[in-house]
Amino acid sequence: MSSCPARIRPAQATDAAAIVALLQPYVPAGIVLPRSEDEVRAASGDFLVAEADGRAVGAVALRDYGGYLVEIRSLVVHPDQAGKGLGSALVTAAVDLARERGARRVFALTLRPQLFERLGFLLVERDLFPQKVWNDCSTCPKRERCDEVAVAMDLGPSTRWRPRPSDSERDPGRG
Ligand SMILES: CC(C)(COP(=O)(O)OP(=O)(O)OC[C@H]1O[C@@H](n2cnc3c(N)ncnc32)[C@H](O)[C@@H]1OP(=O)(O)O)[C@@H](O)C(=O)NCCC(=O)NCCS
Repeated sequence: MSSCPARIRPAQATDAAAIVALLQPYVPAGIVLPRSEDEVRAASGDFLVAEADGRAVGAVALRDYGGYLVEIRSLVVHPDQAGKGLGSALVTAAVDLARERGARRVFALTLRPQLFERLGFLLVERDLFPQKVWNDCSTCPKRERCDEVAVAMDLGPSTRWRPRPSDSERDPGRG
C-alpha cells in the first residue's frame, strides 16, 4: 500500500507499459477497451497518470472528436488504491484538461455512471455520440449487448443543452 497520497500528472511515453498493465485486467470482461502499448505511447499526450510512491496507480485518457467534443476514456485505478477518490480525481483532472484544450462538452460511456454523476455529469442518450459508436463500438465484442451508459457534461458558457432525444445527432444511416 502507498504511504504518500497519489498525485495526478500528465503521462509520459515511458508510462505506456504501466498504463497498459493497469487496463489489461479489465479488457477480457469488456470493462475497458484494449489499448496497445504502441497506441498508448503515441497518445501519451492525451493521458493523465495517478502516481503514488513512484508507480502509476491510475490513468485516464481524453479523445478529441473535434467540434469541441471530448471523450473521457480508459479510466482505471489499481485495485489496491480503489475507493479513495482517485477515480473521481482522475475524471476531474481529465475534465479540467479538456476544458483547457477548449472542449465545450465531455462525455463517457461507462459502467459506473454514479461516479460521473457525482462530478456533475448527466445521463444522456448514447446515440448523441455517433462518432464513438463508429470508432469503437463497431468493433466491440459487446456491441449487441452493450451495458454501458452515456454520461456527459457541458463545459461551454453559451452552449447549454438538455439531454433529450430531439438533440440527437444520430447518423441517419444507422438504424
Ligand atoms: C471505476 C474506478 C476507476 C473507480 O476508481 P476509484 O478510485 O475506486 O474511484 P472513487 O474512489 O473516486 O469512487 C469509487 C467509489 O468509492 C467511493 N469513494 C469515493 N471516495 C471514497 C473515500 N474517500 N472512501 C471510501 N469510499 C470512497 C465512491 O462512493 C465510489 O462509489 P461508487 O461505486 O458509487 O462509484 C476503478 O474501480 C476501476 O479502475 N475499475 C475498473 C475499470 C473501470 O471500471 N473503469 C471505468 C470504466 S468507465
